[in-house]
Amino acid sequence: MLKINNLVLTVTDPDTGQQTEILHGNSFELAQGEALGLVGESGSGKSMTLRCVLGIEPPGARVTGEIELDGTDMLRANGEALRRIRANDLALIAQNPHGALNPVLPVERFLIEGMSDARSMDKKAARALAADLLRQVGIDDTERVLRSYPHQLSGDCCSAL
Ligand SMILES: Nc1ncnc2c1ncn2[C@@H]1O[C@H](COP(=O)(O)OP(=O)(O)OP(=O)(O)O)[C@@H](O)[C@H]1O
Ligand SMILES: [Mg+2]
Repeated sequence: MLKINNLVLTVTDPDTGQQTEILHGNSFELAQGEALGLVGESGSGKSMTLRCVLGIEPPGARVTGEIELDGTDMLRANGEALRRIRANDLALIAQNPHGALNPVLPVERFLIEGMSDARSMDKKAARALAADLLRQVGIDDTERVLRSYPHQLSGDCCSAL
């Protein structure tokens, strides 16, 4: 399902122009139904590896090697193909929701955006599906949660929910 071969990521410091190699030739494969844990010290490149798979590495970064997802060459896929894959097949759950989510947008915007943009659903159907997905993970108070902002749910999410 996912094949990564000899992945090298180089970033350039925008101020000094200095180049730093962050990933030095990662290779691994993941078959359908398998779970894979990447283990390494902080700063060793676990998140960067996955950002390369999604095509969201830092601006100006250079990625070489091969990343194949279900037969798609992710390093050469066009924007439209990447958008479709990100909406349907791949998701990144960031470690830090305060940094990863836009604090001025309510939760419903994040949940319905992918569905209405990439799956061409109308907003009403996308919102209904978002509520359904919340219920599937045990969140029944869907109206309040959809209208909430990230800071109202994360950090102390168990008591807020
Ligand atoms: N936006 C960025 N631009 C340039 N370099 C970055 C950027 N973000 C992270 N790095 C560098 O990339 C390297 C890998 O970082 P990464 O975030 O992938 O580590 P990690 O293994 O996920 O760490 P952690 O366990 O703390 O999440 C680090 O040296 C980090 O300083
Ligand atoms: Mg990380």
